Amino acid sequence: MCGIIGILGNHEVSPQLVDALRRLEYRGYDSAGVATVDDRGRLDRRRAVGKLVNLSDRLVHEPLRGHAGIGHTRWATHGAATEANAHPHRHGRVAVVHNGIIENFRELRDELIAAGIRPQSQTDTETVALLTGQHMDAGLPPVEAARTALARLQGAFALAFLFEGETDLMVVARKGSPLAIGHGDGEMFVGSDAVALAPFTDRITYLEDGDHAVLTRAGALIYDRDGHQVGRPQNRIDVGATAIDKGGYRHFMAKEIAEQPVVIGDVLNHYIKGDRIVLPEGLDFTSVDRISLVGCGTAHLAGHVAKYWFEQLAGLPCDIDVASEFRYREPPLSPESWFIAISQSGETADTLAALDYARAHVARTVGLVNVGTSAIARDADIALPTLAGIEVSVASSKAFTCQLTVLAILALKAAHDRGRLDDAALAGHLADLRSIPGLLQQALNLSEDCRALSEWLSQAQDVLYLGRGALFPVALEGALKLKELSYIHAEGYASGELKHGPIALIDRDVPVIVLAPHDGLFDKTISNMQEVMARHGQILLLSDPEGIASGSDGVHATLRMPAGGGLFQPILYAIPMQYLAYHTAVAKGTDVDQPRNLAKSVTVE
Ligand code: M6R
Repeated sequence: MCGIIGILGNHEVSPQLVDALRRLEYRGYDSAGVATVDDRGRLDRRRAVGKLVNLSDRLVHEPLRGHAGIGHTRWATHGAATEANAHPHRHGRVAVVHNGIIENFRELRDELIAAGIRPQSQTDTETVALLTGQHMDAGLPPVEAARTALARLQGAFALAFLFEGETDLMVVARKGSPLAIGHGDGEMFVGSDAVALAPFTDRITYLEDGDHAVLTRAGALIYDRDGHQVGRPQNRIDVGATAIDKGGYRHFMAKEIAEQPVVIGDVLNHYIKGDRIVLPEGLDFTSVDRISLVGCGTAHLAGHVAKYWFEQLAGLPCDIDVASEFRYREPPLSPESWFIAISQSGETADTLAALDYARAHVARTVGLVNVGTSAIARDADIALPTLAGIEVSVASSKAFTCQLTVLAILALKAAHDRGRLDDAALAGHLADLRSIPGLLQQALNLSEDCRALSEWLSQAQDVLYLGRGALFPVALEGALKLKELSYIHAEGYASGELKHGPIALIDRDVPVIVLAPHDGLFDKTISNMQEVMARHGQILLLSDPEGIASGSDGVHATLRMPAGGGLFQPILYAIPMQYLAYHTAVAKGTDVDQPRNLAKSVTVE
């Protein structure tokens, strides 16, 4: 999603802007641009479609001078990825960068056109520049012009304004979309996240919803939604935790897959002490009557796995929903129920809106987030960090398994609180969980086998993934990963659903990937595999040694998963899902870390 950076500095700012934009690349983008005000007050901009290197090449040939500037990576919402639609948008003496969607832009644009102002782009953002420029032309000083424009905007935005003739001024604002102010020594910064600001400062202030701020090199004056000047805390961020580096791997995703044994070990050490689960106060499940688990994409699928655990282990009814449906469905929620929002970024617009709805209806809201300073972490009653560390690859890997691990711990806590597990039974399950990092390490050894299989998968037009029970959502996640990374059409199904429709797709060209540990449902899945093979379907069976020994007759290939892990095997089976997608993408030559059209942090609806 769009990334924003702004600097009021003491050095030539355009190289710094481009460097900061590079740190925001992981969010996903299709064009980029910067604007600066030089020492004589002249406002100018450069924009380029495609990768940041195109913008930096442009700046080599057409440099921009100045110590004050704004920059942007654009993920197109309104209008194609063209230079004219790239940010910064400029009208007269103002330039603007924006993340979010101005929902009433058509109405504003019509008004501006009626006033004789001609838009130069198809974007919603340009209306903000047009409005502000119009007010400046009418005589308002820059800050007042920006404020007057802001008052007209509906929708979601993080905005930064830069003005001609103003070498020491920037106005920034946020509603819905995240924005962080960085404090330097005689310099000020603004960015979509702390990652972008980490090279400049470790002192960050997060704007709250509805805030706007007037920045000069001397500091930030912050105003709330009613226009009252307010104080917002300065936080020290751990700059080390924002390091973005491939660590010798070819792609961030390969690095992040390989980190899973370690980060999951961190999660277990954080939440489990001896045979006790240690959670923040207020997480007692004794009188909860129902749980709603909500997220988007992979985070939603983590919730879907957890539904099986909460219901089986704790006997706690559990609803799972995608946030974009939940938020508008107005679901009736019991006042004794809890709501758990799951999100890597903690900024996903739909999940945030679902949380807002739930806050008014349930007994407790919990945010399961990887970015501890995010809006969901701040808005939920209780924030539980998933401790995956920074995840750069757009396709989620370690964030998913860390979410699963925290959810497994919550389900065990719920089962214990509700008397469904005694101390001994809890200790048994905790031992299973503690075995997961070692088993993950073994599962990582499947990388080479997955690479070999990717030659076969990369030829396919369609791929089916099948799983039962808590492995069904992992099959969905496998299909999502393959789609995202390799652009091959893939679908996940509950194994038992196959004969109710999807079996019509089976022929010898459709690989069918079956996730089937040797458990109580294994024989049923073997029957489903027979149905596929009877129609010449080519099966890749993922199972433990016992399952492979008894169920692999006639299959195209097998992947031998480690045995063990008890109920928490979905965490293990995530690894081959990630590697199959990763290696297939490499075989196809797609952009692994930044797949086309995707954004890491989806801050618009
Ligand atoms: O930051 P979030 O966890 O809220 O993001 C949710 C989804 O956008 C995300 O999981 C998406 O599906 C990933 N690209 C999956 O790999």
